[in-house]
Amino acid sequence: MSRIVGIDLGTSTSEIACIVDGAPRLFPNTQGKLVTPSVVHITQDGAAVVGEEAAEYLFTRPDCTFMEVKRLTGSGEKLKAHGKEYVPEEIQAMLLRYLVGCAETGLGEKVDRAVITVPAYFTDVQRRMTAKAGELAGLQVERIINEPTAAALDYGLSNLKECKNVLVYDLGGGTLDVTVLELFEGIIDVKASCGNNHLGGKDFDEIIMAHLADPAGDERALMRLKKSAEDCKIALSSRDEYKVSLPFLLTDGDGKPVSVEQTISCQDFEEWVSEKVSSTRDQMMSALGDAKLNPQDLQVVLLVGGSTRIPCVKKLVEATLGAVPRSLVDPDLTVARGAAIQAGLIEGSLNNEDLVLTDVCPYTLGTAPLQSGLFGKRKVFDPLIPRNTTIPTEKSAIYTTVADFQTSVIIEVYQGESSNPENNEQLGEVRLTGIPPARKEKEQIEVNFGYDMNGILQVKASVVSTGKQVSAEISTTGVKARAVLDVSKWEQAEGARSFRPLVRKAEKLISSGKDIGGDITLLLRRLKEAILLKDQEQIDELREDLLAMIEVLEKADKLL
Ligand SMILES: Nc1ncnc2c1ncn2[C@@H]1O[C@H](COP(=O)(O)OP(=O)(O)OP(=O)(O)O)[C@@H](O)[C@H]1O
Ligand SMILES: [Mg+2]
Repeated sequence: MSRIVGIDLGTSTSEIACIVDGAPRLFPNTQGKLVTPSVVHITQDGAAVVGEEAAEYLFTRPDCTFMEVKRLTGSGEKLKAHGKEYVPEEIQAMLLRYLVGCAETGLGEKVDRAVITVPAYFTDVQRRMTAKAGELAGLQVERIINEPTAAALDYGLSNLKECKNVLVYDLGGGTLDVTVLELFEGIIDVKASCGNNHLGGKDFDEIIMAHLADPAGDERALMRLKKSAEDCKIALSSRDEYKVSLPFLLTDGDGKPVSVEQTISCQDFEEWVSEKVSSTRDQMMSALGDAKLNPQDLQVVLLVGGSTRIPCVKKLVEATLGAVPRSLVDPDLTVARGAAIQAGLIEGSLNNEDLVLTDVCPYTLGTAPLQSGLFGKRKVFDPLIPRNTTIPTEKSAIYTTVADFQTSVIIEVYQGESSNPENNEQLGEVRLTGIPPARKEKEQIEVNFGYDMNGILQVKASVVSTGKQVSAEISTTGVKARAVLDVSKWEQAEGARSFRPLVRKAEKLISSGKDIGGDITLLLRRLKEAILLKDQEQIDELREDLLAMIEVLEKADKLL
């Protein structure tokens, strides 16, 4: 078995490390640098060029060069290069492959096992997709760990004797994470995590860009503009003003060249980003609140991520927490170092009696059963695992059937904090069939949620009376993509015609109020989606299920 490497797969930059002689060691890339831009260029023949070298192509071949792909994790969005489509995980896999190659060169041996970090606030789907990227890169993903927790491990390893409350504030290229933890002689006990998956340096670049020019549709101009905006932002972290100069950036309506020359002051920049920067106060307060701590209970504030070099970001953290954040860890390398430490604990190259880690689940996870209320039946979010529960964890709930002779049930799985499931993120659903027909509320269904060390959810469902269980791999792929499908257009899809009689029949049952459990409604929606997506396997399966469900309803109707 190979060694395990730790990888910080970042929005803007990525790093790779491993434990060598009892301490984390970072590996340089092919350009000799420890920090690699998360950029992938795909050549005509489908080969990947990664990092520094790929970044050059952002200006010459923006059509087949990708940056900040981490932001698309789990979105179902497709990326195109040379007429071929790629999912974000495939591009991420190319980046991982390159990093692993750098580690292999550094170690002089083959590597096929890794710990990969993700933002603490990454959703279940985003974690699965990150693990998938690792698999596509030929890696055995030993653990997915949270980035701020990795930073805490790095700090913890060098401060084994300390007993302190620590807040990690990680603002990178694309994400914000705030984690509160207690460090007690090598025991790292994460109390709470909060964050924003869509806030980071990238947003600050975009704000500057908007003040400079609008290159609408001109990819090359857009890349030049982005580069200048980022240069400007970075310069303003150590200077009072910066002059952006972009000769012949665009051509106007008459074909005349347009250049951009503009001096931006630190004060301008701070004003422009003030709202976004201030918004991070909420995450700090929320994480502290969940950890049941006050700002004055904190002894250490760790700043992680390139964007914490921005003076007004530091000022906000200081003003909110009343403590001066000190640069106690390397903001760029600490996450990869922490990932390597986790790897070392798994492979045994570090002693796991010295360093123990507990982490939490950052979101509330639950189901959406039907509940009777004053205004009839409606779906409510039923939390099974409350946010910031220590992981791994396992919780069960018992539900009953809601309709007479109901023989199947669909358990929808949600993640979020709202009592209305529609406001939360749907992770997937589990279909349990073979419930013995009986009067409503007579049969019980047990639902079990298991949340593992990787922050990934496993759902099990069983019929209490028979013990029949479904291997409930929740189907998460495409959940988001589905949201953008307009199912009302299903009839326009190829081959949709032959489904008309079945669909009409189901619609009739629904409109006559017979679909009490809501299963037919859900199955019908899924079937229409599958028809639109031309997913034959799903179509066949859903048609069978829908037919069976209709049959049950009709039978029950006769009996009543
Ligand atoms: N001196 C600086 N001043 C301001 N911003 C900086 C500075 N140095 C780097 N950055 C910004 O930090 C961001 C990259 O930080 P980092 O490498 O920590 O992010 P990442 O790990 O790739 O992203 P994430 O953790 O969100 O996935 C970029 O937006 C970059 O422009
Ligand atoms: Mg990062």
